[in-house]
Amino acid sequence: MVKINHLGIIVDGNGRWAKEKGLNRSMGHKRGAEVLKDIILYLNREKLVNYLSLYVFSTENFDRPQEEVNYLMELFLKWFKTVEKEYTQENIKVYFSGRKEYLRSDIVDAMILLEEKTKNNTGLVVNFCLSYGGRAEIVDATKKIVNKVINNELNIEDIDEKLFSQNLYHNLPDIDFLIRTSGENRISNFMLWQISYAEFYFPKTYFPDFNLDEVKKAFEEYAKRDRRFGRVK
Ligand code: FPP
Repeated sequence: MVKINHLGIIVDGNGRWAKEKGLNRSMGHKRGAEVLKDIILYLNREKLVNYLSLYVFSTENFDRPQEEVNYLMELFLKWFKTVEKEYTQENIKVYFSGRKEYLRSDIVDAMILLEEKTKNNTGLVVNFCLSYGGRAEIVDATKKIVNKVINNELNIEDIDEKLFSQNLYHNLPDIDFLIRTSGENRISNFMLWQISYAEFYFPKTYFPDFNLDEVKKAFEEYAKRDRRFGRVK
């Protein structure tokens, strides 16, 4: 199968999946988390992807009913507290992108610890976008750069695209392929800087049904794309 350097997934449709089954929305998130775990392990073991960015909670998601936000936060906390051993065995490295200041301190502590414990792993890099907004990431990078200029660590003439990327939450390569499940055809503020030349794929499948066969279908779709990056072949 074709390899993808940086794959992005906008996880969507958990709520509708649950509702259509007569379940509470949170049960969609529970199932979504199980599916996500399988996808991460599969992509790493098969060495299909080098970087995987996952949109699991936007800054706007805080406006959901408190019960749902609480459920998701507990799900994140449990995951981040328990995966370290497995990710170290599997050689998976974890990054987090987003505004940590909006998150509970116990969750932030677990995130910092997991990043620290997996920092020397050399396999798949999983970048969890949590409390994340693409515009906020660009604003935060701008503030970092301006501060460096004010402190005479940087000249304005040195600011270019490469330097800007280095000041984002993480210096990741551009996204090559972006999947958004559930049939919605929009980006919703996800990694706006990094998707400049991404190929988009919007399968109708709700995320809790996005199993490994669906992942393989997505890779087949990517293999068909003719990427020109504005050039003529
Ligand atoms: C979008 O579906 C999904 C989310 C906002 C949460 C994604 C979270 C997980 C898959 C949980 C596990 C993740 C980790 C890192 C433990 P939606 O609720 O917007 O679905 P809808 O559009 O059908 O309402």
